[in-house]
Amino acid sequence: MINFPLPRLDKDEVLRNFLLKYCRIKPGGIWVDEKGKHKVGCFNCGDEKLVNRLMDGAKANLAVHDPPYNMVAFEFKNSGEFVKWCAGWVELSYKILEKDASFYVWLGADQKKNYEPFAEFIIMMKESGFTSKSFITMRNQRGYGTQKNWMSVRQELLYYVKGNPVFNVAGVYTDIPKVVKGYYKIVGGEKTENLERSKSDKIRAGNVWIDIQQVFHLMEENVNGCYAQKPLKAIDRIVKTSSSENDLIIDFFSHAGTTLLASEKNKRICYTVDIDPIYCEISIRRLENFRKTGKTGWQNSNPFADEILNDKEISAYLQNEYKLMDKL
Ligand SMILES: C[S@@+](CC[C@H](N)C(=O)[O-])C[C@H]1O[C@@H](n2cnc3c(N)ncnc32)[C@H](O)[C@@H]1O
Repeated sequence: MINFPLPRLDKDEVLRNFLLKYCRIKPGGIWVDEKGKHKVGCFNCGDEKLVNRLMDGAKANLAVHDPPYNMVAFEFKNSGEFVKWCAGWVELSYKILEKDASFYVWLGADQKKNYEPFAEFIIMMKESGFTSKSFITMRNQRGYGTQKNWMSVRQELLYYVKGNPVFNVAGVYTDIPKVVKGYYKIVGGEKTENLERSKSDKIRAGNVWIDIQQVFHLMEENVNGCYAQKPLKAIDRIVKTSSSENDLIIDFFSHAGTTLLASEKNKRICYTVDIDPIYCEISIRRLENFRKTGKTGWQNSNPFADEILNDKEISAYLQNEYKLMDKL
């Protein structure tokens, strides 16, 4: 593995223009997996016509969405405008989900700005038809704001349902060992410790997830060039718990293709969307790379390494701008 990271691809026009040549799907297009399973669409997920074209009459069992926070069409918006935009794709999701289905959404709460857009979003959801089920907190390892505040290490994940979907949590254990003693119950006249209460020496997943490593460059699953990749283990947990084999999963904000990969790993089908052809291409490449090598990402290399290395001009540009390829 060569040391070949990339900068954020949304912030570098020169690199973006170079990479666009290698993107298989153009805006408005849909990539259909050769193996006849997954699909990746390149469009605005609020576009009902294109969403319907992607679904082609199918209904999904699970939605896992991770929208850009307070951004609409790559411009910062106030919380009200952002949530109005969210209401559109939430409504669309409701329409394309089965009558019994789960809906998860990752949502920020900006502590410097009245915890936006969290409050407006959950109020909007009251009218969506979905029923609230759980507010999950995932703990990050690296935080910010430690000098005059509690270190910010939380990511918020909201879980809603439509109807009465599957919930296979019984089989889903964390990697957190049972260590806290003290809670007990009298069973058959005997006092049993909480540590004795199930066969596993690990605890079941609750709504606080502290056993998931944030993605960073030394991890195999790292996808350089992405800036908002969710840990595969988190999406894997959602997929295993809230869907069954061969179920259809939708994700309107594909980015590094984490839901696509978790679906492939767990024998589900995924229809995913990203407005940016580069992230669509990355998602497809991540799936293909996984099928070919069993690897979940590129660690410290990147999905476009071959194309970049074969082009002297762009290699020189990256070297000059970022000194990224020191070890080449
Ligand atoms: C926070 S990232 C999603 C991260 C993803 N869960 C992962 O693990 O890689 C948000 C993505 O949404 C895409 N996006 C932004 N606006 C969109 C829209 N209107 N329709 C579809 N995709 C959009 C962005 O290009 C970006 O890749």
